[in-house]
Amino acid sequence: QQRPRVLSGIQPTAGSFHLGNYLGAVRQWVALQESHDAFYMVVDLHAITVPQDPAELRSNTRIAAAQLLAAGLDPERCTLFVQSHVPEHAQLGWVMNCLTGFGEASRMTQFKDKAAKQGADRTSVGLFTYPILQIADILLYQAHQVPVGEDQRQHIELTRDLAERFNSRYGDTFTMPAPYILKETAKIYDLQDPSAKMSKSAASPKGLINLLDEPKVSAKKVKSAVTDTDTVIRYDAENKPGVSNLLTIYSTLTGTSIPELEQKYEGKMYGALKTDLAEVMVDFVTPFRDRTQEYLDDPETLDAILAKGAEKARAVAAETLATTYDRLGF
Ligand code: ADP
Ligand code: NA
Repeated sequence: QQRPRVLSGIQPTAGSFHLGNYLGAVRQWVALQESHDAFYMVVDLHAITVPQDPAELRSNTRIAAAQLLAAGLDPERCTLFVQSHVPEHAQLGWVMNCLTGFGEASRMTQFKDKAAKQGADRTSVGLFTYPILQIADILLYQAHQVPVGEDQRQHIELTRDLAERFNSRYGDTFTMPAPYILKETAKIYDLQDPSAKMSKSAASPKGLINLLDEPKVSAKKVKSAVTDTDTVIRYDAENKPGVSNLLTIYSTLTGTSIPELEQKYEGKMYGALKTDLAEVMVDFVTPFRDRTQEYLDDPETLDAILAKGAEKARAVAAETLATTYDRLGF
């Protein structure tokens, strides 16, 4: 019995991962490598859908890979690689572009949101077709499941439509993937604006925990998190989003349940919760930063890990592409 295959990617755009990336995605990737045949990649091809400085992109790609290793991805237990090292992504991407309707692509809400922020003149055609490259990323590995956030569900649906379309036109070629939305996935909110999700494009840097920042910087951000004028420490996402976010972060970082935390802080002030969470944060980010730095300080090892990962990924990708090309008449 083969383990189900999962495929997921993360952008190298920002350099440091933020706490939302870690608690909402990377932490689950680490767990899935035990139960699944897991393929994880740093999606540098997706990073150039918006303007990129080459030196920064090169450095951020390595930093992203180092952080994935620091988080606990084990190259013996999963396939970890950089997207551009596997040319089949771009090749299958073209095929998928030709299979997608213009209207169908135009309905992707992620694109519409991103394009609206950038303005039409600054929006590249690559940004428009990035969901289609994502489809190629998934189908290339015959993935059964794709761990994604809720915001990516529409892309998985389009992936299924295209797999089905290709298979019925040209013969069975692609595995039908399903979204894999983990129930323990925590959604983390901005510390200064708990109505917005924590994001690298945060309105204020004080709302965003970057895992590679000095630990004391992150501690300070926790201590100055926005709460409310009430004093009770209770989970209530609607009426107390700031406090609830702090409880979610505390709970996911320590494994202590939220009811247990509510009990622990009964009768205590917000300051007590923030002081303790600041300490939890320092205890988490300090070894994470150190491990990331160790990988960055040893470029030969990091390169060797990524080269081996690309080789493993390519063995699968090349086979899928060869079948696809054959079916198409190439
Ligand atoms: P950002 O939203 O900062 O641009 P990305 O889109 O690069 O981050 O997200 C990479 C991964 O991290 C995705 O799987 C996404 O679902 C997850 N993620 C991002 N922000 C959060 C958050 N605030 N809470 C939980 N998961 C998040
Ligand atoms: Na996002």
